[in-house]
Amino acid sequence: MSVPGPAAVIVLAAGEGTRMKSKTPKVLHEICGRALVDHMLVAARGLAPQRLIVVVGHERERVAAHLGVTSPDAATVVQEKQNGTGHAVRTVLEAVGPITGTVLVTYGDTPLLRTETLAALLDRHTEEGNAVTVLTAEVPDPSGYGRIVRDADGAVLEIVEDRDATPEQRVIREMNSGVYAFDGALLAEAVRRVGAANAQGEEYLTDVLAILRRDGHRVGAHIAADHVEVEGVNDRVQLAFARRVLGERILRRHMLAGVTIVDPAATWIDADVTLEPDAVIHPGTHLRGATRVASGAVIGPDSTLTDTVVGADAVVRNAVCDGAEIGPEALVGPFAYLRPGTVLRRKSKIGAYVETKNATVGEGSKIPHLTYVGDATIGTGSNIGAACVFVNYDGVAKHHTVVGDHVRVGSDTMLIAPVKIGDGAYTAAGSVITVDVPPGAMAVARGRQRNIEGWVSRRRAGTASAEAARRAITAGDVEEAAD
Ligand code: UD1
Ligand code: CA
Repeated sequence: MSVPGPAAVIVLAAGEGTRMKSKTPKVLHEICGRALVDHMLVAARGLAPQRLIVVVGHERERVAAHLGVTSPDAATVVQEKQNGTGHAVRTVLEAVGPITGTVLVTYGDTPLLRTETLAALLDRHTEEGNAVTVLTAEVPDPSGYGRIVRDADGAVLEIVEDRDATPEQRVIREMNSGVYAFDGALLAEAVRRVGAANAQGEEYLTDVLAILRRDGHRVGAHIAADHVEVEGVNDRVQLAFARRVLGERILRRHMLAGVTIVDPAATWIDADVTLEPDAVIHPGTHLRGATRVASGAVIGPDSTLTDTVVGADAVVRNAVCDGAEIGPEALVGPFAYLRPGTVLRRKSKIGAYVETKNATVGEGSKIPHLTYVGDATIGTGSNIGAACVFVNYDGVAKHHTVVGDHVRVGSDTMLIAPVKIGDGAYTAAGSVITVDVPPGAMAVARGRQRNIEGWVSRRRAGTASAEAARRAITAGDVEEAAD
């Protein structure tokens, strides 16, 4: 990668992508947490181009709005009608004016293309002093692609589209990837001379090669080491294939960086996830979005983490976590659901059938079983008994609950927000807490128990219960009440 960044990268993304059979424009379909066009732009950005230009057409408002969020550094140029790849490039050059220096043209639907491959193309283009250098690949089945026609010495003569090819040309297995490095000034001049006298009646960018060669300029080709990289996505089968290839690449990168992926075939990690060495990922795990996992943390099996941060040595099993922050050495799951705004401090614990949302759980605090914690702040060293509900919603608005340090909330406590439990306080099991509890107090908020002696023998005479009670009473293993 000795050459400086190209003057521009032009990404063609105006086509409809009919074979996707989708309401969503093709380039916005996502794999590994990014839209197809964003994969291409990330690879292009790796070349440090002076400008990034995306040609939009079909559903242009949607594509442009998407790019405005993910790629504000990319300019968009509208191609009103998709009259061919040559027309798309001509439209750009007419819109932005002449570009001097190297112009790289590529597509929005080739998510597997790597920066390294594009850089190798640019290197060859510069070293050979070419007017144009095309990225090609030898493929097992070239049908549908443009073919690279070379002379007896191997020099590139032209690119012939599948539909325009002769039977002799159709057997050529070297295909045109559609990615090229051009001299910007020569491109601007040649693309104006492209006609539309072909099977599709379109302005083919491929014709620029023959035009430049006829003008006496140097035309070169760089053969991609792996043809899979240049294969575009046209339908959902290819979309799934690209996802698998990209997924394998991501997993391999993490494994080589010191992450244990127990079963790569059963693990799905998005492109922007970061994992530190010695993280362990068990099967059935999906790590999505901007999820980050620190060293020594163990995730899975069967967990889905989206935009979640996991601290060192934390353990997360059989959990769904969205927008959560899990502190170092915290324990989550099995069967926990952490929703956005959940913050678990160091060594805290969220156990089975617990749901949390917009809740901070202090260091060493535990919520082991069957509980909902919404809109709450819990201090350090506190314990929330089984089956508690932080009752945050009055039917109109959400309210906040504060639980102090070293609090013991009894099982089946309802905390009706807004409410505050002071440091060191207890609540009795089964309480419905509606007023603040001072530090160190025991709050009891439930009906006192009353036993009605003999009720079953009087009101349920003849039942198995009445008979069981009679046997127990006559055997004397239950003391009869004094009155
Ligand atoms: C093109 C090449 C072919 C090559 C193949 C590789 C031409 C004439 N042919 O064929 O040699 O083997 O790519 O995949 O270039 N696009 C626009 N505006 C247009 C037309 C296309 O932006 O007016 C975009 C499409 O969105 C797509 C890309 O350019 O991303 C390729 O267009 P497509 O029509 O698929 O070209 P192919 O027929 O596949
Ligand atoms: Ca195509």
